[in-house]
Amino acid sequence: MPAPPTDYELYLRVPELLSLQKRPEQLACPDELLFQVVHQSAELWMKLIDHELGRAATLLDRDDLGEVAVLLRRVHAVQNLLLDGMETLYTLSSADYMRIRAVLGRGSGQESPGFRRMLAAPGELWPHFESLLERQGLTLTEIYREPRRFPSVYAVAEGLIELDLRLQEWRNRHILLVYRTIGVGTPSLKGKHSELLERGLRTQFFPALWQVRDELFAEWTAEHPNGAEYTLVSPNSTR
Ligand code: HEM
Repeated sequence: MPAPPTDYELYLRVPELLSLQKRPEQLACPDELLFQVVHQSAELWMKLIDHELGRAATLLDRDDLGEVAVLLRRVHAVQNLLLDGMETLYTLSSADYMRIRAVLGRGSGQESPGFRRMLAAPGELWPHFESLLERQGLTLTEIYREPRRFPSVYAVAEGLIELDLRLQEWRNRHILLVYRTIGVGTPSLKGKHSELLERGLRTQFFPALWQVRDELFAEWTAEHPNGAEYTLVSPNSTR
């Protein structure tokens, strides 16, 4: 008789979880297990990110900026795991990927429900941040001109741009992984992948947070019509 499942296995539903990957004899090649595990765990991590960003929206509405900053830090840590997951696939050979691809059907990462949420969630969160700025009577330019005067709102804004950075990093790393595995010019299951993926690379998730940097530097340029000026100060100077 098999041993009864432990509370650990019951709580985490380990038997169901571990039955979601192909059995060894079903694998197209031994590395297919890595491919499945990376993609399945990515779906779980993206589910968690979506969940935390939904919570962050509610907390923004309650002006609970400390908690929002904690959740954003958590989201960044999870985003790092997604980046690391791709790193493990740097060990997959092109030949083995072709074996896996042969059994993928017409499945494409573009159909990933988790990634679709990653694309939508920042746009859904942004209005909550904008309402906070309105309630506080602040503009992004004011905050970025003097970040130390508005530490909590600034911390949240920086947390949002870090989320954006890491989403863009994900796309950058993924395209390199794709090039490494199947080359730059190979047509993929849904047409020419390099064009599709390179279009994605240009997406900014919080455009206003990028624009405010342009504004600050435009102000600086206007104040420094001759560019940067250096004043040489000698070590013995009393100035
Ligand atoms: C050997 C590794 C991988 C290869 C060769 C690969 C290949 C591709 C290709 C060719 C595309 C373009 C769309 C298409 O033609 O299907 C794509 C898109 C995508 N893949 Fe991958 N992929 C790999 C790993 C991953 C991993 C680990 C994930 C994690 C979830 C992932 C998620 C996605 C997503 C979300 C898209 C859509 C990207 C966007 O719209 O910017 N892929 N992949």
